[in-house]
Amino acid sequence: MPSPAAYSDFGPMRLNEPLSNWTTMRIGGPAEMFFEPHKPEHLADLLTALEKDGVPWTLIGGGANTVAPDGGIPGAVIHTGNMRRLFRDGNGLRLWPGVTLPTLVRSAQGLGLSGVEKLVGVPGHVGGALAMNAGSVEWGIWDQVEEIVLWSPGPANEEDGLKFRTWSPKEIQPAYRHGNLGGRVVLETLLTLEESTPLAVKATQDEFLKRKNQSQPVKLTSAGCAFKNPNGDSAGRLIDSAGLKGHCIGGVAVSDIHANFLVNQGGASAADVRQMLDIIEQTVLEKSGVSLERELVVLPEPL
Ligand code: EPU
Repeated sequence: MPSPAAYSDFGPMRLNEPLSNWTTMRIGGPAEMFFEPHKPEHLADLLTALEKDGVPWTLIGGGANTVAPDGGIPGAVIHTGNMRRLFRDGNGLRLWPGVTLPTLVRSAQGLGLSGVEKLVGVPGHVGGALAMNAGSVEWGIWDQVEEIVLWSPGPANEEDGLKFRTWSPKEIQPAYRHGNLGGRVVLETLLTLEESTPLAVKATQDEFLKRKNQSQPVKLTSAGCAFKNPNGDSAGRLIDSAGLKGHCIGGVAVSDIHANFLVNQGGASAADVRQMLDIIEQTVLEKSGVSLERELVVLPEPL
């Protein structure tokens, strides 16, 4: 592997950075090289350089919905936190991948633009939200995407020799909680929003936030919903009716407030989370015959 100094042109980099500082679940050992590029161009160049050098890389976005391994991650880990610019573009917003969802929600509200109210109270960054199509059950952030610029692994484009281009949602075909990016990386996106008023947008946001505060453990350390909802049912309801609310393994507990949230009660490890996910899957399958699908991204332990 080239010396870390070979990557000094791509923004700040730290060695052996504890990932527990960078994930909402507060779990994870050290990243061998931890990058926070300042611009999407730097992110694209960094990915191209790492690919050329055969250095494994892991993108953690804003660290939400992700459980980092206890043994850390070899190679490069990229956090999107420094790429935070947001531009108005007609009735839409053009976003860099590190814009936080709270910033997106607040900016849209201030400009009186409607369309992303359902992301109120959701942590994470725009890039990660697109990768997993974050949202509610019947709506995802991709519903607002007009276009998206993606870096792609593999050969450069034939026409211009670049490794990124603009895609339409039709080409990508995202689904419920599945951005369908297939290894591509978000550099920028344009969301279409609807002209409204700051007051009207705030009223809708307040309504969603109230419901969220009542039904989810928003103040506790978690990574959002652990499982996707199966067709026509709720993973939270199934885990709850399997009697698992409050069940603890090590430092991880199934939330008493909403059973689809795993809470880090202090000192939880990735091993605790893995074990808990297995137990939930087995118990729900036994009790209700449903195979739950994971929404939480549990990164593998190093070999
Ligand atoms: N329920 C229970 N017990 C529980 C949790 C829920 O019986 O412990 C029942 C509720 O009473 C309700 C039903 O299950 O009748 C559905 O629950 P809720 O309204 O809380 O919504 P959800 O389907 O569990 C989904 C998304 C959330 C999103 C909310 C609100 C998924 C997996 N979850 O939750 O998304 O915030 O709707 O829009 O799609 C996330 O993906 O990380 C997430 C939090």
